[in-house]
Amino acid sequence: MKAVTDVDKVHRIRDRLRGAQHVVVLTGAGISAESGVPTFRGEGGLWREYRAVDLATPQAFQRDPRLVWEFYNWRREVLAPLSPNPGHEALVRLEQRVPRFTLITQNIDGLHEKAGSHNILELHGNIWHVRCPGCGTVTEDRRVLPPMPLCAGCGQLLRPHVVWFGENLDPAILTRAYEAVQRTDFMMIVGTSGTVEPAASMGMLAKRKGAWLVEVNLEATPHTSFYDASILGKSGEILPLICEAL
Ligand code: OAD
Repeated sequence: MKAVTDVDKVHRIRDRLRGAQHVVVLTGAGISAESGVPTFRGEGGLWREYRAVDLATPQAFQRDPRLVWEFYNWRREVLAPLSPNPGHEALVRLEQRVPRFTLITQNIDGLHEKAGSHNILELHGNIWHVRCPGCGTVTEDRRVLPPMPLCAGCGQLLRPHVVWFGENLDPAILTRAYEAVQRTDFMMIVGTSGTVEPAASMGMLAKRKGAWLVEVNLEATPHTSFYDASILGKSGEILPLICEAL
């Protein structure tokens, strides 16, 4: 953190945080990048190398479930040994220090939970959970899965409990996320390109309802100019600074 302006911004953000009643943090793939999780867009992004329509849609699963499971089993293998980074850990401390805290994440890697955050809303599901399309049972399963895992209850082919393109988000989770976004007085948006709805519009909604907004990202996003503050840099370095002296 070389620029004086960034130090000033961190102070301003901390001042706002100290007075906040309900803090909402929205995270995307960028917060997990320093843990070694590939992001989706930009250099090295998953969707640069793979086509989402072939791997992350209900049609793809219908057409070739073995290929889709191969992709998700590979992602599980990549994610299994990874640990939360100082960005995830700073948000755990933040939750402990403010009156109300809601963490909305688009990530399916489970690293916020692993770090110790509690009030987490996983908008896009969780890669460590599997769901049976037949009986609807959702179970946590961190084992190495067979190429075509079957439901222990009804024998149907299981699917990853994640939201694919073209699918609706869990309405109960979405309702809780919107409630938090409409009530927050301080919202921080971390490591998301802001390109996938409904998460992409949540910051603007909070702003319309009167919240103060800050974005932490390596680069500017389409929404940066609408927010009250923006800090460019790695979330694993910036978040500990923001949260350290509250
Ligand atoms: P993206 O890959 O679209 O964006 C990642 C963002 O993180 C970019 O804006 C980067 O600049 C930023 N970034 C990268 N490293 C960072 C770091 N160390 N610190 C801070 N920022 C950093 O990921 P998302 O916005 O999360 O959905 O993508 C949204 C959704 O699109 C995902 O949840 C996924 C994907 O398709 C589904 O699979 C349904």
